Amino acid sequence: MSERHLGEDHSVVTADVAATEFADESAPIDVPHDVDGVVVLDYGGQYSQLIARRVRECGVFSELLPHHVGVEEVARRKPRGLILSGGPASVYSQDAPKLEAALLELGIPVLGICYGMQLVAHELGGRVESAEVGEYGRSQLTVHEPGVLFAGLPAEQPCWMSHRDTVFEPPTGFTALASSTQSPVAAFESRERDIYGIQFHPEVVHTPYGQDVLTHFLRDVCGCAMTWSAASIVEEQIARIRAQVGDGKVVCGLSGGVDSSVAALLVHRAIGDQLTCVFVDHGMMRKNEGAQVVETFRDYFKVPLVAVDAEDRFLERLRGVSEPEQKRKIIGAEFIRVFEEEAAKVGDAKFLVQGTLYSDVIESGGGTGASTIKSHHNVGGLPDDLKFELVEPLRALFKDEVRAVGTEIGLPERMVWRQPFPGPGLAIRIVGGEATKERLDLLRDADHILQDEIRNAGLYRDLWQSFCVLPDVRTVGVQGDERTYGYVVVIRAVTSDDAMTADWARLPYDLLEQIASRMINELREVNRVVLDITSKPPGTIEWE
Ligand code: XMP
Repeated sequence: MSERHLGEDHSVVTADVAATEFADESAPIDVPHDVDGVVVLDYGGQYSQLIARRVRECGVFSELLPHHVGVEEVARRKPRGLILSGGPASVYSQDAPKLEAALLELGIPVLGICYGMQLVAHELGGRVESAEVGEYGRSQLTVHEPGVLFAGLPAEQPCWMSHRDTVFEPPTGFTALASSTQSPVAAFESRERDIYGIQFHPEVVHTPYGQDVLTHFLRDVCGCAMTWSAASIVEEQIARIRAQVGDGKVVCGLSGGVDSSVAALLVHRAIGDQLTCVFVDHGMMRKNEGAQVVETFRDYFKVPLVAVDAEDRFLERLRGVSEPEQKRKIIGAEFIRVFEEEAAKVGDAKFLVQGTLYSDVIESGGGTGASTIKSHHNVGGLPDDLKFELVEPLRALFKDEVRAVGTEIGLPERMVWRQPFPGPGLAIRIVGGEATKERLDLLRDADHILQDEIRNAGLYRDLWQSFCVLPDVRTVGVQGDERTYGYVVVIRAVTSDDAMTADWARLPYDLLEQIASRMINELREVNRVVLDITSKPPGTIEWE
């Protein structure tokens, strides 16, 4: 990974300029103490994060930990229950993650999902074998014995499967509850031992009764109160922030993105004017974006805000630069410089607010100090020689929960639902050429038309991102009987869940026509509009 980001849609900081050690990565997340929670152990499954999110959607706090954290680490959290996730391994392969037997002796209910179920079966003497035929995708579940998990649910129901190894016989003392097209034992339980297993994936939308099955486990087996909601932690977070910073001064880099905005507002609620926000306008923002940040935070919420108009500085540094990584590095380094200068003016600020999310925490080691599952570019961002102690009020929250908190504390809808925007901003959307003021202004105007039309069509929230790209290319056209030689604007609109993969959005033809004709009519320099129909992979979302 060649770069590090300040936050989801914050300014980029390159590895060259950022120190590689980041404060506080290993700290456990702040587990709210007055709500029931469960631990989800991650055995490497594709959907592990989704399990943790679905549990929270049921109203139960959940933490996702790597499978090897050890039983003490799990017990320390005093969970009401334990869920073992799926994973790609076979219980018979040499290097397969093993089930620590003590996890079944914690005195709390255990639910194994997919590989998690096979681990339990294998550990307790059931029969797990590789089946002749794998079972991938949609399947049909037949419930023979509802037990507690399927109480009140249809005997026949669709479910989503993804496995080759299969449980052929449950361990002694367990009751087989269901079978599926290719799984003789697709669910089992032992009420006595309080251990449960399901082969299918309850967390995906293709298992329509999955949320019910999870609810039965969480409410009827674990006895959870189901009262967790992201909004319910606002008061608790405020108390924590107060306890952490006392009467110290705090700075926050505000980008206008969801994460930094929600983090800043929460901290302001907690400590008022001890907080100063710094918004660096590098001149690569979208139309009116800087003004909106100032209006919202300074004028409306009365948050002390330093808004720095650094456009000239950034443009100067970017002069003659067309190589994308170089643009990123320059912008990242300059951002730190400007931020440091402004933070120094705040006086003896000891704390820095970061909009780190739970998904960042998980992906950099699960909040346990354990080794990294996946390296991730979102954690950290500012070099640690800035010597701030971090305040991270969103560390326990998934993105959708951050939006819920944002709504709860009154952040305008426009900001709560803002699409992600890259730290280097429009500079990396002027491709193959230098980001000059003239081109940035043109791109800003084209982008404004696109956003306007997408919002009017009611599609803004359905898209992961929608934006324009301005290649450094001119093409010939004819307008009003005259030859033109103008810019090409590219429309890029994608759907995605997490930006790891994306599909190009099938925007209605009439809408595309309206966008194109507005761009060509309203923007003199543009004479052609094209649509990018590349998914990711093989393309990336951004062009640079
Ligand atoms: P790609 O283009 O890699 O983008 O498919 C994936 C997501 O990351 C955003 N992105 C960035 N965000 N600094 C950022 O803060 C960057 O340098 C950067 N490059 C890409 C992109 O907008 C998309 O959401």
